[in-house]
Amino acid sequence: MITFDTKRRLFHLYNANFSYYFYINKLNYLIHLYSGKYLQNVDIERLTERYAERYAYLDNNKEVCDESYYFSLQGANFECATFNTADKRGSFAIIKNVDSSLLTDFRYVSHKIIQGKEPIKYLPHAKIQNCKEVETLEITLKDVRSEVYLILYYSIFNNLNILIRNSKIINKEKQDITLLKLASTELDLIYGDYELISTYGTWSKDRQLEVSKISHSKQIISDNHGGRGFYHNPAIIIKEKDTNLFNGNAYGFELIYSGNFSFEVSADEFNQTRVIAGINEENFSFTLRYNQCFNSPECVLAFSDKGINGVTNVLHDFIRQYILPKTFAFKERPILINSWEAYYFDFDTEKIIKLIDEANSLGIEMVVLDDGWFGNRDSDSSSLGDWQINKDKIDLEKVITYAHEKNMKFGLWVEPEMISPNSKLFSEHPEFALYKRNIKPTLFRHQLVLDLTNPKVVDYIYSEIKEIFKKYPIDYCKWDFNRYLSEIGSLYVGENNEGEIYHRFILGTYDLLNRFITDFPNVLLETCASGGGRFDLGMLYYSSQIWASDETDPTARVDIQYSTNIFYPLSCIGAHVSARPFLTYQDKAIIAAFGTFGYELDPIKLSEEDKNQIIGINKLIKEWHHVVTEGDYYALKSPVNSNYAAWMTVSKNKKEALVFHFNFRREPTYSRYIKLYGLDPDLYYFNSLTNTIIKGDFYMNVGLNISAPLDEGKAMLFVLKAVNSLEKTIYEKIKMKNNEKRDKIF
Ligand code: GLA
Repeated sequence: MITFDTKRRLFHLYNANFSYYFYINKLNYLIHLYSGKYLQNVDIERLTERYAERYAYLDNNKEVCDESYYFSLQGANFECATFNTADKRGSFAIIKNVDSSLLTDFRYVSHKIIQGKEPIKYLPHAKIQNCKEVETLEITLKDVRSEVYLILYYSIFNNLNILIRNSKIINKEKQDITLLKLASTELDLIYGDYELISTYGTWSKDRQLEVSKISHSKQIISDNHGGRGFYHNPAIIIKEKDTNLFNGNAYGFELIYSGNFSFEVSADEFNQTRVIAGINEENFSFTLRYNQCFNSPECVLAFSDKGINGVTNVLHDFIRQYILPKTFAFKERPILINSWEAYYFDFDTEKIIKLIDEANSLGIEMVVLDDGWFGNRDSDSSSLGDWQINKDKIDLEKVITYAHEKNMKFGLWVEPEMISPNSKLFSEHPEFALYKRNIKPTLFRHQLVLDLTNPKVVDYIYSEIKEIFKKYPIDYCKWDFNRYLSEIGSLYVGENNEGEIYHRFILGTYDLLNRFITDFPNVLLETCASGGGRFDLGMLYYSSQIWASDETDPTARVDIQYSTNIFYPLSCIGAHVSARPFLTYQDKAIIAAFGTFGYELDPIKLSEEDKNQIIGINKLIKEWHHVVTEGDYYALKSPVNSNYAAWMTVSKNKKEALVFHFNFRREPTYSRYIKLYGLDPDLYYFNSLTNTIIKGDFYMNVGLNISAPLDEGKAMLFVLKAVNSLEKTIYEKIKMKNNEKRDKIF
């Protein structure tokens, strides 16, 4: 998977479908050559001849002219770009040296190739169980002017088009240096004409899709809220202009990180494209003493020549196999009902017992008690940090035992990273809060963030949460995070090291989460941040699913789910049906079925007709949801600027498929066929909605017929199941006997 040609000093990282080439040039720079579909060999001279003819550069105060005709720093494609040299197109690392100078210029020293991949300490990472699946290249570089080393790690997978990169800075100077920037990955593509797919959003409008041309000015997709990816998500795709959902080259990037991040993307003056991804350098600086090191988070690069869906397939497989907690990654999740939209803070033991009874009779498998069970928490204005049960309001033992007796699971909401100024904890430990003293901090939702940079605070808050989960047999935990960081200040870190706070805070959060999953590996963890405000691979390393959005209006969720599906497997996208009046329960459930499924409503208020619908839906979910959890996903029609959205999932053995179609506006009869993907062309599929048996190649070349008139906001679910020749014959005989019309569509 990794070869080094010693004569040409050429690295080739590859598997059967993917190649990544770079070489060490005469000046010991690592120069990127090619990344894309498998290529047996590259011609270095052909790939570098376009550079300017001359090169002049200050190296250790001497002017150096490269004799090799082929190289110019200004237009070179780097693996780790320099800072404050002749190349001005964005840097990989910036170090403030012992003499306070900033020039940062790393050159190759040595490398080694190892089987497998080492986990990064304190940061979430791809979990490799079988060393044979991955090979890692570790390259050591040294700064030309100091004793500072940069290690680049590249891990290539043999069964997936995935290349993971991360980096490490080691200070071998006898004095402190300050790290001002350290990227995780860089990809210098040799030409322009690419488009960027990213998402932006806010509360209740999580992850809205945006596609833009990569222009010659720098675009920065970033976040600086300290772990709140609403505004931008740490996942992007770069695609060739003509690449569509099904064809063409595309590169997906996802950071395994939940803190401030940035993706810098630009086409340069020579029309080459540079992508640099990692921790956001804004408000970041880290002091490194002698021999101390700093690790950047891992960044995943997924390549496909089969369009955006190709990248999605690679990412989904990778995330399910190497990121999600093993216990739940491929496991069916229970159908849940959450108390939030049913009762908000207004519940008691009796109401929850009734909720359990009703939910049980509807075939729901788990009841989740949301916010409001602790301290004096009857509104969002108090008690975060006081994780003691409010016994006047809820008898936790009783409701859990009751649910278990009914053979149902029970889940509980927590928000461990927070503290309310109006709480016992704050009155006893004001120093536990993270905010700048002597100014009035912004109180989003009446709360402050805990200073998780301080290990003592992590210890304290974890012991409180652990106590509850140790005492009660809780099956599921919803871990919330309802405000972002602002006016940061930490009595622990101190004012001089303020640039370390954002990263140290997220390390504290990871420490907390790590302790939780280590002590409670069988508790299904769902993270949340005012909906899907923290949806990233860092969180998915610990939590098997993330609540996708507080927006439970089904039509708005179509957009949110469509764009989330591109980057994250459906099995980790929390999607629930609520009592919002628009659409029937069946329509709403069809949308939510393509995520982890559940309800946000008071079942007692349901009509008999709605109850019957819900019972039927739950049966269907139990029967078919494994195709959502394990299958291959294909987006078929984007809802962006369109009246329709469509997608499908196909089981790995291609024998079962679920197809989703939704239209926003009413439309008359119209000739509409959607071509399906990923089926077996030779198999016949029974379609439960149309009651037809049709061959896979028809579905994939002609399409699924949905030409009938469509009502406003109509969701359709087609369940396709492969039938054998005997089943097909029996079906046709019955059909002939019944003299049914062959082509009858729903
Ligand atoms: C956030 C979550 C909601 C709910 C509330 C409780 O807004 O997104 O689902 O849990 O917190 O306060």
